[in-house]
This record gives sequence, structure tokens and C-alpha cells, in this order.
Amino acid sequence: MQERKRNLPRWLRGLSARLLVLTMIFVMLSEVLIYVPSIARFRLMFLENRIADAHLASLALKATPDNVLSRTLELELLSNAMVRGIALKRPEARIMILMDDMPPDVDATYDLRGAGAPQLIADAFATLRQGDRTLRIVGDFPDQSEGSLEVIVDERQLFAAMIDYSTNIMKLSLIISLLTAGLVFLSLQLLMVLPMRRITASLVAFRKAPENANSMIAFSTRGDEIGKAERELHHMQDGVRAALAQKAHLAALGAAVSKINHDLRNILATAQLVSDRLGEVQDPTVRQVAPRLMQSIDRAIELCSQTLSFGRADEAAPKPVAFALRDLVDDVSAFAGLPNDGSITWRNDVPGEIMVRADREQIFRVLLNLARNAVQAMTQGGEVSVTASRGGAGVIVEFADSGPGLPDKARRHLFEPFTSSARAGGTGLGLAIAKELIVAHGGDLTLLRSDSGGTVFRLDLPGART
Ligand SMILES: Nc1ncnc2c1ncn2[C@@H]1O[C@H](COP(=O)(O)OP(=O)(O)OP(=O)(O)O)[C@@H](O)[C@H]1O
Ligand SMILES: [Mg+2]
Repeated sequence: MQERKRNLPRWLRGLSARLLVLTMIFVMLSEVLIYVPSIARFRLMFLENRIADAHLASLALKATPDNVLSRTLELELLSNAMVRGIALKRPEARIMILMDDMPPDVDATYDLRGAGAPQLIADAFATLRQGDRTLRIVGDFPDQSEGSLEVIVDERQLFAAMIDYSTNIMKLSLIISLLTAGLVFLSLQLLMVLPMRRITASLVAFRKAPENANSMIAFSTRGDEIGKAERELHHMQDGVRAALAQKAHLAALGAAVSKINHDLRNILATAQLVSDRLGEVQDPTVRQVAPRLMQSIDRAIELCSQTLSFGRADEAAPKPVAFALRDLVDDVSAFAGLPNDGSITWRNDVPGEIMVRADREQIFRVLLNLARNAVQAMTQGGEVSVTASRGGAGVIVEFADSGPGLPDKARRHLFEPFTSSARAGGTGLGLAIAKELIVAHGGDLTLLRSDSGGTVFRLDLPGART
């Protein structure tokens, strides 16, 4: 099929050329449908004219005093009427009134009176097939009291006239189909093919250089489907171009921030060393400000590390291993920053037998972020409880605390990086990173509920069951 298409001449491969050929074929086809009844009608009229002419000839005969004509006049009358013989048929007998030299044998008789359309069509095609018979045609005498009129016709004359007529129809059909096809071709070319070419050219140019505004298709004011397609394409290209430009800016900005962060972290590490030394100084004023200084530096370092880890677009793909979830939750509690005074209780209600197949390090980071948030929120003390259950092929973990619930700002921008933080010193990255890590596992992190009685997050890890 592909081969055959390639073998087509170049001019025939275009949409408009194919439509041109198709239109010609369709017009010719409809012309054939018109031709069939019209050739039958042409034959009928030809034969009816012979009957009418024969009638006139018989009138000439009647006008003579003794019904006798000279032989020359008789032959002339027959030749003018394009018939070879004329007979009058009365109920009692058939009277031959005019006849040329050789009385011919009749091959077929056709009665024109009351012949139906299908019969007339079949008779016309019989003439086109044979064309050299001698026919007897029966028609009505204008004055019916005198009976019917019969003429002997040489089919060759009828055949020649029908071929003439058919050739003319053929020529006319060709001209009409060429004209129609040409008009269809032109209108399609103008209405569809040219705009389609414009769209295709713009698509190709845009793919090659999306940042180049000249490769965009012009905004169209056409009201039809093509206009709509052009407008939509224009908007899409505009959107893609803007997104690309924004992405490039963001990438540049991200690279700059990463560099600054990296250096800043080194500088802060030095500051941390110095502030540690300050902590050893006995001066009461220094002792009073040193802890706050150290705390600020710690926060700054935390901010740098978090931003750096978020900026890494290529967070490593999860490396799944099988591990006991309960043990992991125990590990998290050791790093969650639980106060020493025991004001926060940590309840690990995860059944010991639940094994999970996931990246242990990444799930640890997710739970640690949730745990730190809970501990940071429960300044007055409270309880953190972690439960897990099996759900289908996966595992569902619920992380609950009895804290004061999410502040409004955090709730509005939950899981959005940098914007969700409602905590002094918070970067607003913890939950965004946690969600990203879970989504990379094919799961989801959602807020189940949060009110003055506490907050519950739900972690879905589909297909994580071992
Ligand atoms: N369990 C919780 N109870 C009450 N508020 C919470 C809880 N978890 C999160 N929040 C609120 O949601 C905000 C966003 O949390 P997220 O962990 O994303 O950022 P952060 O804790 O402010 O900063 P980071 O975790 O990056 O150091 C927090 O500032 C806090 O106000
Ligand atoms: Mg946090």
C-alpha cells in the first residue's frame, strides 16, 4: 500500500489533486445516470417523429384525386419521412399505402403506444447493440378512428442519430465535469488546502524553533473550523513559548540559588564553629545571646540544606527494599526532636508483621518531616501516633498528632513549596518534599483531617506490600 502511494505521480499525491479526480469521477457517474433515461427518450422521440412524418406523407397521398402519386414523388415522400414504408392498419385489414423499391423483411416490431420506461430503455440499448435491423414501428394515427399507423424504419439511421446524440452528451459531460471539478478544486484549494499548508508549515517551523516568535501562526479571524484551528494553534504556541521562556528563567534562577546556597552553607559552618566557641565564654551577656545566635545559625543551615535538596530536580529514583515498617517508625522517633521532659508521647501502633517494599531512606525522610511538624506544632505537649494497615496490594499509614491543627495559611498552601510555612524559621518545604517522594513511589500523601483536636496525614503506598 505504502509502495503504491509512493509510485503515484507527485501531482496526484496532494489532497487537492485527489479531490479533483474524485469530483470528475462523481460528475461523470451522475451524467451516466442521466444518460440512460435520456437516450431512451431520444429514441422514442426519433420514432414518434417518423410516425408524424409518415402521417404527413399519407395526407399528401389523400390530397390526390385518385390516391395515386408518381413513383418519384412517392420515393421523395418516403425519404423525407426517413422511412421505407408506411401502412395504415384498420381493424379489418392492413393497407400498405407507400413502399420503396425493395419490400424488406422486418426483424423486429415495436409498438410505441403505452411502452413503459424500463421497456424503452431496454429497446434503446438493443438498438445501440445491433443497429442494422429493419424495424416495424406502430404508432397512433392522429385521428384514431382511422386506426393505427405503421412505418418501416431502417435501424441504421436511428443508430447513427443515437450515436451522434451520445457523443454530444459525452462531450458535454466531460466539459461539465471538468468545469465542476475545476471549481471544486479552486474552492478547496482556497478554503482548505492553503490554510492547511499554512498550519503544517507553522507546526514544522515551531517544532524547529519554538522560541522564535516568527514561527507562530498568525491570529486568524476566520469564523469557520479552519479559523478555529488556527486560533487554537496560535494560543497553544503562545502558551508553549511563554512556558519555555519561564522555564529557562527558572532554571537559570535555580542554578544561581543553588550556587549561593552552597557557598552560604560553608560560610555558615564557619559561623557555627565560632558561635560554639562563644558558648564557652563565661561573660553573662554573651551567655545570654549565644544560644539565640546558635539557633539562628542552625536555622539558616537547615534552610540551605532543605532548599538544596528541593532544588535537586533529579531526586534519585526510589530503590525499593523490603523492611519492617514498625522498626522504621521507631528510628524516626529518635530523630523527631521529642522533648526530653516527656511532654510528648510517641505511640508506634504499627503492627510488627507489616512489611513494606519501598525506598527505606526516602520513606524515613517523609515520616521524619511529618514527625518534626507534629512535634513543632505541639508546644504544649501531646501525643503522636502512627498506625498502618494493609489496603489491597498496598499499605496505608496514618500519622496523627493531638496538636492544635493546621494554621489557615498552611492549610491554604499545603504541599506548596516555600509558601505553606506558618512557623517562625520554617521553610515550607517539608511537606512539599514529602509529597514528592511519595508520588515518586506511585502513592500519595494527603491531609485526612485537621482541627483543634489534632491533625492526621494519610500515606498511601500502593503495591508496597511484600
Ligand atoms: N502536624 C501539624 N500540626 C499543625 N501544623 C502543621 C502540622 N504539619 C504542618 N503544619 C503547618 O504546615 C506548615 C508547613 O509545613 P512544612 O513541613 O511544609 O514546612 P515547615 O515545617 O514550615 O518548614 P520545613 O519543614 O521545611 O522546615 C508548617 O509551617 C506548619 O505551620
Ligand atoms: Mg516541616
